[in-house]
Amino acid sequence: MKLSVKGFEIHPGFLDPAQQRAILGAVRGVVADAPFFRPDTPYGKPMSVRMTAAGAYGWYSDKKGYRYVPNHPSGRPWPAIPAEVFEIWQQVTGVERQPQCCLINYYDAQAKMGLHQDRDETDMGWPVVSISLGDEGLFRMGNVTRGGKTESMWLRSGDVVVMGGAARLAYHGVDRIRSGSSTLLPKGGRLNLTLRMVE
Ligand code: SIN
Ligand code: MN
Repeated sequence: MKLSVKGFEIHPGFLDPAQQRAILGAVRGVVADAPFFRPDTPYGKPMSVRMTAAGAYGWYSDKKGYRYVPNHPSGRPWPAIPAEVFEIWQQVTGVERQPQCCLINYYDAQAKMGLHQDRDETDMGWPVVSISLGDEGLFRMGNVTRGGKTESMWLRSGDVVVMGGAARLAYHGVDRIRSGSSTLLPKGGRLNLTLRMVE
């Protein structure tokens, strides 16, 4: 089944529990090499979401602004994107070229992400793919310009969203996390992986 909400393509329950556990195992491998950190916004406030990444690039933010960087704050390159994650990208987009960044966001019970566009990439012709694991997150979908009517939906563990075409530059964000709604992560919280072509 596939839903379309304001041009966002939503695949509810795309990953079964065994696949979710496999991706989680792969994410743990990435995090062992590239631990989560909390980026500062350009305004100097730490984000509530913890982040890390895999691939040629990771997304980063500090007083200098938002950008993609080739190394984790440790100075080491980001680990490779796990094969299981590439496979999902291909299944939902049909794009053969492999994405260059798998951004990994961790939301604890209090974390959220304000409405924003993904616009630090060079070519908006490539889609962005988002994979949700763990607790449910209330995902808000807006328009390609700020403001206007938005629609929200709870993303559950195993759901996959494609932001492509007209929705590629649509505003989106996560209003809140439904703590305790999944048992996938032993300590709770939500993981979201986004796959992006950077250049
Ligand atoms: C993001 O926009 O980077 C994350 C979206 C999500 O957590 O579902
Ligand atoms: Mn985004």
